[in-house]
Amino acid sequence: MNDTTSTAMTKTDRPALTPAFNRRWVLADRPTGREVRESDFALDTQPIPGLRDGEFLVRTLYLSVAPVMRQYMLQGGAGERPLQFGEVMRGRGVGVVVASRNPRFAPGEFVQGKLGWQEYSVSDGSPYFMMYKIEQRIAPLSTGIGVLGVTGFTSYLGLMHIGQLQRGDRVLVSGAAGGVGSSVAQIAKHHGASRVVGIAGSAEKCRMLVERLGYDAAIDYRREDLQTRLGELLPEGFDVMFDNVGGETLDTALLHLRMDARVVLCGRISEYLGDEEQPYALRNYQRLHKRYASLRGFFIYRLESMFPQAERAMAEMIHAGALTHAEDVLEGLERMPEALIRLYSGANRGKQLVRVDPQAETYRHHNPWMTV
Ligand SMILES: NC(=O)c1ccc[n+]([C@@H]2O[C@H](COP(=O)([O-])OP(=O)(O)OC[C@H]3O[C@@H](n4cnc5c(N)ncnc54)[C@H](OP(=O)(O)O)[C@@H]3O)[C@@H](O)[C@H]2O)c1
Repeated sequence: MNDTTSTAMTKTDRPALTPAFNRRWVLADRPTGREVRESDFALDTQPIPGLRDGEFLVRTLYLSVAPVMRQYMLQGGAGERPLQFGEVMRGRGVGVVVASRNPRFAPGEFVQGKLGWQEYSVSDGSPYFMMYKIEQRIAPLSTGIGVLGVTGFTSYLGLMHIGQLQRGDRVLVSGAAGGVGSSVAQIAKHHGASRVVGIAGSAEKCRMLVERLGYDAAIDYRREDLQTRLGELLPEGFDVMFDNVGGETLDTALLHLRMDARVVLCGRISEYLGDEEQPYALRNYQRLHKRYASLRGFFIYRLESMFPQAERAMAEMIHAGALTHAEDVLEGLERMPEALIRLYSGANRGKQLVRVDPQAETYRHHNPWMTV
């Protein structure tokens, strides 16, 4: 959970300033028609190539996992082509520039971007890498792939821009205890929502939602009847639903729309393991008609021009003490496959990430790559 631990760095455990080798996870098998397994990945070691003009080398500090990565292993997803066997697993992370032949990225600077599942990555800073500098000092670097990164921007822009949250709105969130869902209630409350109800997969997650993450009430969808509980907890229905789950959860929720309600289709994780040729067919969509309601999907990378606005808004909330970031941190690059598998088993509480460099947070105080 909120990880702000900083370990003192001693002379002997300093990282190599000019590394020679890179450990990386590559694709070894495709999870076709099944869940992801550890054996879908292979860990190998490769020499680090020399930098060409315009390139820089990043040492990975943290890596993020996201449900879409299973799609990368299959047919692509999020605008990316499918990975080939032996290719480095794709993914965002936070890192520090350790060598550079690019005038825009200097050694010692912290960045978040597409680093891949590896200890070192080479980038040319082109738009494909979506490489942003981390300049804030109000929150741990790990938040660069959490509340102050694409995950947080998804929560903020999904709710505010796509969901058009208004003061007084009643809000329903599915997948509420995950990376995206864990900040939605806090954003909603900060912007005037009158009531926020979350849906998650265990009693313990539901307690976390109410005690730590700003939710007024929570429903354990594995043990409680969703239809009954929605009637009890949102007797007049909801104005905005932030849906991370799709399938039956969404279908049941459609029975609880208020007039002019907006349903934000963020994700459909309950359907990702199903047959893509035969997606879940919504039975209750006609309710949209009767309630003048809308169902709107979005894809966060298409909103890239709004990231600075989202980052500012989320940073202001942290500054105001209105945003607790829930992080679930595994230690070590070796645990990347396990981290991805946890998203599908529901083991993660909050944003699932992996700390690749145990000293990640110390470099802000003791930055061995800073030359000026
Ligand atoms: N639109 C976009 O641009 C965009 C961007 C980022 C993410 N997303 C989507 O947003 C959603 C959340 O992503 P995230 O990265 O924050 O992941 P996450 O919510 O941290 O992790 C996934 C969670 O989904 C739940 N889950 C897993 N299988 C499920 C099932 N069969 N039925 C219901 N719930 C299930 C689990 O929680 P429980 O224990 O509660 O079941 C699990 O903890 C995903 O659908 C993702 O694809 C969309």
